[in-house]
Amino acid sequence: MRLKTPGEINKSTFIPNYLLLPPQTFERIKQKPTMRAYYFDNLPGDQRLPHDYVPSRPVSKETLDKINVKYWSVPVEGYEPKIDAIAKERGYKNRDMINVSKEGMGEIYEEKIKTFFEEHMHEDEEIRYILSGSGFFDVRETPTDEWIRLAVTPGDLIVIPAGIYHRFTLDEANNIKALRLFQDEPKWVPYNRSEQTDANPHRLEYLKSIGVGA
Ligand SMILES: [Fe+2]
Repeated sequence: MRLKTPGEINKSTFIPNYLLLPPQTFERIKQKPTMRAYYFDNLPGDQRLPHDYVPSRPVSKETLDKINVKYWSVPVEGYEPKIDAIAKERGYKNRDMINVSKEGMGEIYEEKIKTFFEEHMHEDEEIRYILSGSGFFDVRETPTDEWIRLAVTPGDLIVIPAGIYHRFTLDEANNIKALRLFQDEPKWVPYNRSEQTDANPHRLEYLKSIGVGA
């Protein structure tokens, strides 16, 4: 029998890439890894870069619990009944969808994402369920005053409590589509961090809820 040349082998014995993966990979693909949270490195430069320390300083779910940031992972495929159940349990009666992308927003895009990145708080929870794309929510840890970066991807549902200082940016992919859930009327007025905002009753209430301050 004549031996095949390398070219002939490639043509006749083509094996799809996924069949070369070890079987445990399929389990990993099915189960979305939990949202990555880590301390922001505070280095200057594009806010859209990961800003992960080297080596990284990961933040556990317990640490997020302490500052009252809640997180669930709900696969996007068939998400509706699961999101409905969480919304019902927590009293989120309304929702809408936002789509932030460079293509969709044109000229005002750069300016807009700088505004999202200003440190602020709201008098109500900020609830987001990511449908596609990705981005970073930074939340201020108290009393350390460090930034914790939450790298959100499709399937992440996060609740940023009323009164916590936070900010948002897209990453280098420049697009995100998310559901915004809310109780009655949306209260999305941002109060930028200041001495006056430090004295806002919702800020003080938040500090009390995490056991910091008076
Ligand atoms: Fe906000």
